[in-house]
Parts: sequence; C-alpha cells; structure tokens
Amino acid sequence: MTIPVLQVTNLQKRFGDFAAVDGISFSMKPGEILGLLGPNGAGKTTTIQMLLGLITPTTGSIQIFGLDLSSNRETILQQVNFSSTYISMPQALTVEENLWVVARLYGLTDIARRVNEIVKKLEMEDFCHKVTRKLSSGQMTRITLAKALLTEPKILFLDEPTASLDPDIAEKIRALLKEERRSSGLSILYTSHNMREMEEMSDRIIFLQRGKIVAEGTAQEIVTRFGQADLEEVFLKLARESRIGGKP
Ligand SMILES: Nc1ncnc2c1ncn2[C@@H]1O[C@H](COP(=O)(O)OP(=O)(O)O)[C@@H](O)[C@H]1O
Ligand SMILES: [Mg+2]
Repeated sequence: MTIPVLQVTNLQKRFGDFAAVDGISFSMKPGEILGLLGPNGAGKTTTIQMLLGLITPTTGSIQIFGLDLSSNRETILQQVNFSSTYISMPQALTVEENLWVVARLYGLTDIARRVNEIVKKLEMEDFCHKVTRKLSSGQMTRITLAKALLTEPKILFLDEPTASLDPDIAEKIRALLKEERRSSGLSILYTSHNMREMEEMSDRIIFLQRGKIVAEGTAQEIVTRFGQADLEEVFLKLARESRIGGKP
C-alpha cells in the first residue's frame, strides 16, 4: 500500500458555535490530483488554511509525509506550497522581484535560472517587470501560481487557481499542472467552481457541504451515485439543498 502524502483525520474548525469544517477525514496519494468541491461557505478555504498551518484546527489531526503538521510545521512547509487570491505580496516590487524574494525565503539556489524558467512556463514575460500593484487579477493569479511552483514542492494546495484566468490561459495552467505531476510526482489539492475543470483534472473529488464530506470518488462515480447527468447537475442539486438547509 502506498503511504499517503496527506492524511486528514476528523478535522474540525469551529468559529464560536459554528463548525465551518465539521469532522472530515480523507487522504491523498503521491501524485494524486484531488478536487475539493462545494458551494460557497462549504469550508474549502478553511480546510486549506488548516492544511497550511495558517489556522489551528479545533480538533482532529493533519499528517503530511507521515508527520504531524502541528509538531513538524517547518519541515513540512519547506516541501509544500500554495496559491490563493488571499495571499498578499509587496505591491511596490515587480513580479520578478517578488519571485526572487520567495526564492530567497525558501533558500533556493540558482535563482536566476529558476525564475526565468517559471516566467516562461507561465507566459509572464510581458508583465514580469511590472510592479505588482499594477497587475490585473488574471496576472495576479499567475504570479501566485509562479510563486507556488518556483519552490518545486511535493504538494500544492491551490484555492481557486484558475478563477480569474481567461479560458486559454486556464487551459495552459491545467496542462502545466498535469505535466508537473507527471514529471515530478507532484500531488495537488485544489478547489474550483468550474465543473468541466473538476471532471478533467481530478483523479478524485471530495464534495463538501456545510463542513461535511457528502460525496467522494471519481467524477463519474459521484455522477452515477447521485443519478444525475453530470457533475454540474450534482453540484446544483447539493448546493440548492444546502441553501434551503435540507439533508443530502
Ligand atoms: N474567521 C472566520 N470567522 C468566522 N467564520 C468564518 C471565518 N472564516 C470562515 N468562516 C465561515 O466558515 C464558513 C466556511 O468558509 P470557507 O471555508 O471560506 O468556505 P468556502 O471556501 O467553501 O467558500 C463560511 O460560513 C464562513 O463565513
Ligand atoms: Mg473559498
């Protein structure tokens, strides 16, 4: 049996009386692409923030590379990276300067080569000398992805990585992520509201609703289980139930 790179057990996060994440357990295999799906407020971002050690779980455990995150944070985070719209970067620095800062923080060597490589891979040549404050939201998304890939992590946590990208660049990013997985065994946990992307990218999908896992499996397995035509239909069914407070 392959040892999972990520093992989440009974994870819960409460904000006062409210459980944003309500006792979820799942694992991720090396090289797996895992999609975290669910309506707004389902607990996806809260889950990712716990996996990154940015917020502390109320109860439950997170093991990454077989180590407990709470007591091995620094070792683990050296080999993990993430992208999301909520990270902020020094706005007065150029895109390239920001990438240098990240490279230095992670203690990378051969920085000029790596920065050039990532700028090319993400087709950022035309704005890599712009100050970060002047970037469009799609360009911002690309710099956060560049930052995430720059450190050659073993696990990537991506919170809505393609949300503000045009379809062409979104497609290129998906191809790039799959290529990284193929060439370096990268494992990816990501969220998206793009159902086609979920179907195309994910080896497995975890469906969150009001902090709980309500479905898990391949896109096809989930579609079949809920007796719907496609993932979009499953999503609409579950999201509407979620809004009226019904049971799945
Ligand atoms: N710091 C916080 N304090 C109180 N409630 C929060 C906090 N962060 C998130 N929540 C609530 O937790 C729930 C899950 O949020 P989130 O994880 O951002 O959902 P998602 O990313 O799936 O849209 C939401 O109801 C949100 O309002
Ligand atoms: Mg979110």
